[in-house]
Amino acid sequence: MIPESFIQELLNRVDIVDVIDKSVPLKKAGANYSACCPFHNEKSPSFTVSPTKQFYHCFGCGAHGTAIGFLMEYAGLSFVESIHDLAKNVGMIVPQEQSTQESREADAQNKNIKLGLQETLQQAANYYKAELKKSERAIDYLKARGLSGIIAAKFQIGYAPAGWQNLQSVFPQYENEALQTAGLVVENEQGKRYDRFRDRIMFPIHDQKGQVIGFGGRVINPEDTPKYYNSPETPLFQKGHELYGLFVARRAIRDAGRALVVEGYMDVVALAQYGIEYAVAALGTATTPFHITKLMRQTDEIVFCFDGDNAGRTAAWRAAINALPALTDGLKLRFLFLPKEHDPDSYVREFGKEKFETEMQAGMPLSQYIVQHLSEQNPLNAQEDKVKFLNDAEPILRQIIAPKFSLMMRKRIAELADVSEAEMQSLLKLPVPNRSPVKATQKQSRAPLSIKKRFVLMLLMQPSLAKTEHLSFSKGFSEEDVLLQASIHAALRQPQSKPAALLHTIESQVDTRLLHEIQRELHLLDESLDFALEFEGARTQLVDMTQQKQDGGMLDSLKEKPFSALTAEEREMLKKLTAKK
Ligand code: UTP
Ligand code: MN
Repeated sequence: MIPESFIQELLNRVDIVDVIDKSVPLKKAGANYSACCPFHNEKSPSFTVSPTKQFYHCFGCGAHGTAIGFLMEYAGLSFVESIHDLAKNVGMIVPQEQSTQESREADAQNKNIKLGLQETLQQAANYYKAELKKSERAIDYLKARGLSGIIAAKFQIGYAPAGWQNLQSVFPQYENEALQTAGLVVENEQGKRYDRFRDRIMFPIHDQKGQVIGFGGRVINPEDTPKYYNSPETPLFQKGHELYGLFVARRAIRDAGRALVVEGYMDVVALAQYGIEYAVAALGTATTPFHITKLMRQTDEIVFCFDGDNAGRTAAWRAAINALPALTDGLKLRFLFLPKEHDPDSYVREFGKEKFETEMQAGMPLSQYIVQHLSEQNPLNAQEDKVKFLNDAEPILRQIIAPKFSLMMRKRIAELADVSEAEMQSLLKLPVPNRSPVKATQKQSRAPLSIKKRFVLMLLMQPSLAKTEHLSFSKGFSEEDVLLQASIHAALRQPQSKPAALLHTIESQVDTRLLHEIQRELHLLDESLDFALEFEGARTQLVDMTQQKQDGGMLDSLKEKPFSALTAEEREMLKKLTAKK
């Protein structure tokens, strides 16, 4: 847990222009900076970065966010990773909530271990790469599989020579703990150490920053087993979280608007060789919800293409099931089933990029795949079959929390089982899916903003103008009142904060849709406005509105009483208020 106050300070301290400029060179354009949008393909720049608001916004594709959001979206970092990355750049140290001396020491130790591992793995990768250049046999193998030197270099492919202790030449301290932790050496029962990877083509596995975190090694000699040997899990490398090729593919995934998930190292590399550069592979494990979530940060279209054999079919079904909890309504998942004798590598080699991509377009949507798979298992002839069908469908339906997708699947399953949705519901007692927090189709036309929202916008731009008395503008409990209250409180507490930081503060308190609207309005806000003046305008109107409301309330209560029961003062007031109205 990172304290909220730290995140605030961080957002105020970093400059989003610097952060973005590092990966997407920006040009000054008036008060803002602009570039061609890194999140969609375009020829003329519609991506703008505002130093005053500390936001980026693309008028082409609608991408927007803070410096944290940019790192998450562009570099694919997690929230916490983004915070650490930003903090490092401005020399801030991320505090740990309730960090004790002990836990700090443990953290530091952990960090050192990771750094040691990191370095060790990188050195090994360099060594393997250099060895590949020296080995005619390894080069011939790669050539025979149709790979060019360029692709080999792109994936930093290497070669671990035959022999038991080659790594000794790179690591004179062959006894070093790190070598074993990194999974580069193995110790036998006699305590003798030897290299884990021998006479293998080496595929380094990178994390999202491009650092080596492990290896996969393929035999050259077809008699050797196992065919692929992978690094063990280490503090740096968790198989269920990492995807082979993601670092290399990142840019291409953005450009294509799609990621392709395959089974093998060679599939990824061969696809890239043939021009499909947006492929990644789960590392000899089933595709996990972590994998899906990771990819969803980069794209909303994921195609799975596994081997045509039975193992591949099983893997596809497991991928489908594992994807369910990570699904969102906007996500498009499809499955491409290859002919039995093919894997993506052999398929692209035989038929080429174009055919592969056409097949991908025609891939089977997840919903259809699930329904088809369930009905394949079940002829649905007898009443018993339908019961079994529903029983099989139940755990699947339970895992889908994306509202629209869930609704659609329930309809379809009920239809097939020949029961009404209500009947199915009473049989299965499925949880009611959440309402979608953000409407996918937001109105594009801009209705004039309510005065409260306008006030909030100005407050976000000039928080130092906030006063406690402004709290009286919103006594109600509507979403808008909550927004107003939260904004005033935030502004009072952080009068020097940038809009991005303030929005972050109120984020958890305010209705998501309203927040998105405010965010959008903020992007569109003309920077040349005199915010103090605008603020004053909105404030006066709110004062009037509050007064009117009070008057209205008073008038109503006066009218409720019989005239004869009113005091002289009350009668005077009634006359005044009626006239005013
Ligand atoms: P495959 O057996 O389908 O290999 O394994 P492949 O990708 O077609 O490789 P080539 O074309 O024969 O070189 C798919 C993936 O399963 C894991 C690896 O991650 C491999 O890329 N695997 C396979 C292992 O971990 N160990 C093995 O022994 C075999
Ligand atoms: Mn293969």
